[in-house]
Amino acid sequence: MFASKLISNSTAAGRKSSAFVATYDVAVGRNSYFSTPTTRRNSTTPTTTTIDSSGFDKIGCVGLGLMGHGICQVAATSGVHSKIIAFEQEQRFLDSGNDRILKSIDKLVEKGKLTLDDANDAMGRTEFTTDMDALRDVDLVVEAVIENIDLKKDLYTSLGEICKPETIFASNTSSLSIGEMAAFSGRPDRFLGVHFFNPVQLMKVVEVIKTDDTDPIVLEKGLKWVEEIGKVSVLCGDTPGFIVNRILVPMLMQSMSLIDRKDASVKDIDVAMKLGCGHPMGPLHLADYIGLDTCYFIVSGWMEKYPDESDFFIPACLQANIEAGNLGRKTGKGFYHWEGEKRGDPVY
Ligand SMILES: NC(=O)c1ccc[n+]([C@@H]2O[C@H](COP(=O)([O-])OP(=O)(O)OC[C@H]3O[C@@H](n4cnc5c(N)ncnc54)[C@H](O)[C@@H]3O)[C@@H](O)[C@H]2O)c1
Repeated sequence: MFASKLISNSTAAGRKSSAFVATYDVAVGRNSYFSTPTTRRNSTTPTTTTIDSSGFDKIGCVGLGLMGHGICQVAATSGVHSKIIAFEQEQRFLDSGNDRILKSIDKLVEKGKLTLDDANDAMGRTEFTTDMDALRDVDLVVEAVIENIDLKKDLYTSLGEICKPETIFASNTSSLSIGEMAAFSGRPDRFLGVHFFNPVQLMKVVEVIKTDDTDPIVLEKGLKWVEEIGKVSVLCGDTPGFIVNRILVPMLMQSMSLIDRKDASVKDIDVAMKLGCGHPMGPLHLADYIGLDTCYFIVSGWMEKYPDESDFFIPACLQANIEAGNLGRKTGKGFYHWEGEKRGDPVY
């Protein structure tokens, strides 16, 4: 418990894009979420709490990439599980996930944020495997494999056959429908979304997503688990982008529309949103930081699936940047010039 508190409370070295989202969870504390009568009337909010703990003794983490290794680490250092089964299909990816966790835990020990004993306990509780059968009797599977619906459908079909009937599945997807994946698991009532933010070790908020089929107790367990591993849960229905990205991404598109219409400059849009809304980073700076290809990919997917939603559109300047291969920070040019992590002058 001690270790997870230190990790998740750390504000030291977060990436800039994370800092933007971090302001969000300050305003939406779990206590206030559940204590106001207005939010209680919200159809997604459980009206009563009937459990003291998630009861997740043994959990599985499937996929140990950027997000999965962080989720596995935070779960392991929280000390609330007797066993964490860390699964990747291929040995080389398993080894690199294991390495990432070790390096991150080492840093915490070096900085005095985790004791050596706690670090050893966390690693001792974690079993790294390429054998999916090891997930058979876990209480919760958290999935963080690449964002590909066909791959996830295959995975959930297999997990649905292998895991005990009581096992709850939770996907960390950013953009796919939780309900669609739940249908392939053979247990739609025991299926949730748990959307962590990058870097998992630092970012406090986790969006917990329910579908119409999610059993209320399963939802409560999911919310409770998020708290147990030291994070703040917010609840959302199965809607594109959930809360954060549904608000954030259309805002990025609107800021690009101002550029298309020549209503304002890149610099002035970013200054306006920083000083006018208190955002730590302007929207065009943030779009460059996230990657213009990622922004494009998210909105294109939404447009295809929800053609009547007027918030989902691709501004001409985004399209032009994509076609020119200007993807923001990662290519050195987008709405700004970049030198590595250092932002230069606006292009427009
Ligand atoms: N990158 C982000 O900032 C971010 C933020 C929130 C949520 N997400 C979501 O998290 C999920 C993972 O994203 P990521 O950025 O960590 O991707 P990643 O590519 O870094 O990691 C994915 C991992 O999944 C593994 N994998 C693929 N198929 C597998 C299988 N069948 N079984 C086990 N492991 C398998 C890969 O080997 C890889 O290690 C996605 O659904 C993504 O939408 C990403």
